[in-house]
Amino acid sequence: MRITNHPILAFPEREKVLFIFDGETLEGFSGEPIVAALHAAGVRVLRHSLRHKRPRGLFCAIGNCSSCLMTVDGLPNVRVCTEPLQAGMKVETQKGRGEVL
Ligand code: FES
Repeated sequence: MRITNHPILAFPEREKVLFIFDGETLEGFSGEPIVAALHAAGVRVLRHSLRHKRPRGLFCAIGNCSSCLMTVDGLPNVRVCTEPLQAGMKVETQKGRGEVL
């Protein structure tokens, strides 16, 4: 699900790329925030709260909270709302505080 037409905003054409999310191959556009590609693929739960294990989704979308921390290419605590998508990235749901792989 993507917004493709908007009365004010223009969306530049970008290259389609493939990336891996929790072992599944998904498609997105190069340079868009990783979370945009995940949302387009229907992924809404990005992590779970540390204490109560409640699902967390996109919240601020500008890199100011910790709602979207995920492991990207083995690096934990990446804010996927501000991290640009690149071809072949491996994005994983982070468990707990994350571990460097
Ligand atoms: S949603 Fe707040 S930092 Fe990403």
